[in-house]
Amino acid sequence: MSIDIRPGTPADHRAMAGAMANALLSPAPDDEAWAKSAPSWLETPSFGAWDGDECVGSASQFLVDTTVPGGARLPTGAVSRVGVLPTHRRRGVATRLLRALVDDACARGLALMSLRASEATIYERYGFGMAGESASVTVDSARARPLRAAPANGRIRFVAPDDVLATVEPIYDAALHRRPGMVTRPATWWERYLAKAITLGTASHVVVHEREPGRPDGYAHYDVTWNDGGPGLGGGRGKVRDVIAADDATELALWAFILDLDLVRTWTAGERPVDDVVPGALYDRRAYRVTGIDDEQWLRLVDIDRALAARTYNPVPDSVTVTVDDQWIGANCDTWRIGADGAERAHGDGELRADISAVSAAYLGGITWRALAATGRVVGPADAVERADQLFATRPLPFCGSFF
Ligand SMILES: CC(C)(COP(=O)(O)OP(=O)(O)OC[C@H]1O[C@@H](n2cnc3c(N)ncnc32)[C@H](O)[C@@H]1OP(=O)(O)O)[C@@H](O)C(=O)NCCC(=O)NCCS
Repeated sequence: MSIDIRPGTPADHRAMAGAMANALLSPAPDDEAWAKSAPSWLETPSFGAWDGDECVGSASQFLVDTTVPGGARLPTGAVSRVGVLPTHRRRGVATRLLRALVDDACARGLALMSLRASEATIYERYGFGMAGESASVTVDSARARPLRAAPANGRIRFVAPDDVLATVEPIYDAALHRRPGMVTRPATWWERYLAKAITLGTASHVVVHEREPGRPDGYAHYDVTWNDGGPGLGGGRGKVRDVIAADDATELALWAFILDLDLVRTWTAGERPVDDVVPGALYDRRAYRVTGIDDEQWLRLVDIDRALAARTYNPVPDSVTVTVDDQWIGANCDTWRIGADGAERAHGDGELRADISAVSAAYLGGITWRALAATGRVVGPADAVERADQLFATRPLPFCGSFF
């Protein structure tokens, strides 16, 4: 029987969630879990794959905005819940689901698509490029103290569970411009991230930093679990979930607070920028150990004109021309001249030629054109590659910090 791909309706969502869970080798949601996640399906354009009455695959995208170099924000499909049942794999079902999502993103006028990949081998064929990495880290608090940081001149206070959501969202939104790759977080994400922190009686805490009373400019969200022997004997293990602040000084003030907490010896953080300011601020920078570096955000330019025009470029004298190939979006196949003053369509062949997945990887300025050229993803003379890097490079490096 042929597989039918169609937009997910509310009547389809639970079967789609079951198929996705099965694909990820997880149990299908029970009634309680489904009651929690059903609202997020309603706000998410999705597609299901059906073999008769059986749902055999799903793919969806949350609607968010991504910060691009220079601070503009672009509408983005945050792709999630991609899965195909083990019984129906390698028959092109995911390819058709992703194609439906890309077409949907074009129809909605989105400029970008973004995702977190379960495996790094899947998404390049669909035009996505690995645009930014993240680090998982461990910090030994005794060796880390005292921190060396510019004074933040504020105070730190705990936030009561009932006030957490209303407090952290505006701080996060005000900090969105700080790194390319950061995304707006829909309400359903906040509820998921902060599920424990908004529940009384859990060891999950949110503190805010205030420079002036009542005007918080940063927050930290962390959890603690006890080693055998409890607080007094074994000590605790802390997990830093989020540290978001208006500037580096405030971010470090929050880290100083965390690392100074009694009874906790080791802190872990699952997602930190690879150019984190924290290690350089520690008394002993080796107290901060990177335990892994992973690909974080995979990006796809959907509307290349809008994407290239929205970001800024470094003020270097020379421009570069790039010819782009995109197997799925014909309007993205052309040549662009990119210079300090912006990007525009140009005639003829560009100095560089690249697939949309490579341009998407380079777009946020964290992955170099040089690295892409070294692996054959970008073709052209070395001086043009060098000019592209001078124009595109961004600091701080791209980092998202939101998992979806
Ligand atoms: C990843 C997954 C969605 C792919 O579904 P699928 O329907 O088998 O994919 P397709 O048949 O459309 O495959 C398209 C191509 O991708 C390749 N491919 C698919 N999954 C791959 C994987 N995990 N690793 C390497 N290549 C993969 C296929 O071999 C095929 O290559 P080809 O075009 O050269 O023949 C499916 O295997 C799955 O559900 N995996 C577990 C859940 C998961 O990882 N989801 C992704 C979350 S980000």
